[in-house]
Amino acid sequence: MKSSEKRAVLTFSDATPGITLPIYQGSVGPEVIDIRSLYGKTGMFTYDPGFLSTASCQSAITYIDGDRGKLLYRGYPIEQLAAQCDYLEACYLLLYGELPDRDQKQEFVGLIANHTMVNEQMHLMLRGFRRDAHPMAVLTSMAGALAAFYHDSTDINNPKHREIAAIRLIAKMPTLVAMAYKHSVSQSCPYPNNALSYSGNFMRMMFATPCEDYEPSDVLVRALDRIFILHADHEQNTSTSTVRLCGSSGTNPFAAIGAGIACLWGPAHGGANEACLGMLQDIHAAGGVARIGEFVARVKDENSGVKLMGFGHRVYKNYDPRARLMRETCHEVLGHLGVDRDPLLQLAMALEKVTLEDEYFVSRKLYPNVDFYSGIVLRAIGIPVSLFTAIFALSRTVGWIAQLNEMMADPDYRIGRPRQLFTGTVLR
Ligand code: ACO
Repeated sequence: MKSSEKRAVLTFSDATPGITLPIYQGSVGPEVIDIRSLYGKTGMFTYDPGFLSTASCQSAITYIDGDRGKLLYRGYPIEQLAAQCDYLEACYLLLYGELPDRDQKQEFVGLIANHTMVNEQMHLMLRGFRRDAHPMAVLTSMAGALAAFYHDSTDINNPKHREIAAIRLIAKMPTLVAMAYKHSVSQSCPYPNNALSYSGNFMRMMFATPCEDYEPSDVLVRALDRIFILHADHEQNTSTSTVRLCGSSGTNPFAAIGAGIACLWGPAHGGANEACLGMLQDIHAAGGVARIGEFVARVKDENSGVKLMGFGHRVYKNYDPRARLMRETCHEVLGHLGVDRDPLLQLAMALEKVTLEDEYFVSRKLYPNVDFYSGIVLRAIGIPVSLFTAIFALSRTVGWIAQLNEMMADPDYRIGRPRQLFTGTVLR
């Protein structure tokens, strides 16, 4: 980051002396005021619930221009990556800062393939869960439990350990998600097949059985791979900030990722894809497109507590570029499967059209986010709704670990420890 010539001057309406604060510029995006000396100089904290105005770190990984609806991974627009890369290339880019050349890609793919299996003991652990456990509950535990099996990559202060943990996590997440799914349907989970692509292998683990192999179609593999790319990173979102905060205590990378998965589960974050499909199904069951007006009226009624799931975003105040790509994939997949008159897709498009012309949504800059169409694609691929957020977690693992590793290498890194404005009883 670069110091700006400009300074921020903070003055007070009483006799408290004013102070001058430095301002830094990033390569693009808003400047930041450095308030680190504020408490020392004034005895005051800043108050910013939900971090609406707080940059918690410097980062060179992902950039979002929320007003223009732009998303870049390491400088590459998401549209280019979605069209021209596969997921493992995007992972390499996020982790190491550059797209791989042919040799680097081959080596990386080989490395990931060599770590797809999980310790056999983890299958015993899986059996301890109820069959009706939510896959996110299973995944949170299993990801955290990796620390119990891979002792040679738990020292977060050791760059080598962090790198091995990154490879292990990216490689093993598809296996863990497939294990969580197979357990829920009382089937044995096939071992990974390293001859297949990352996404192809995942689909096979999901849908093959001991008596019948599964050969995924190229269109579906490509669609899933695109879903993985679109969800791979999204700068300092809630779960990524959780991973950073958790990792800042010096805990091991597996524990930090487990915390990220737990955070992602919430319906205001990664759980929105599941909630969005549920919402579309409810409207469909209630009468479909004809009931949209009624549903939108409930969303607009501030006393109803009803939100339009898959809409709105803290950063995007324009169309989420991932939603546009997802809509494209949605048409491709449903067309390929011959179900392009899918009622939920028709409903989603009609709902989108209504909201884009409605003053309530326009004035609040509420547009579809990535979750609005992803549920329809996942469902068409055959992924059960309860697994949607686990798919998101699988995809986001690379972003979490890239951000965690970036934080550990940052000289400004400190344990994360927010302060508070105490409003309770002073002394009794
Ligand atoms: N439906 C209806 N109204 C909404 C929605 C929505 N989905 N989202 C925001 N609003 C309204 C708010 O009620 C508020 O209205 P007000 O000014 O009259 O009070 C206004 O728009 C501003 O919204 P905030 O809640 O201040 O926005 P915030 O940045 O805090 O929340 C969030 C963002 C959590 C994503 C929110 O838009 C939401 O809950 N969306 C639905 C869930 C969802 O799709 N989450 C996925 C996000 S993408 C991801 O995590 C991958």
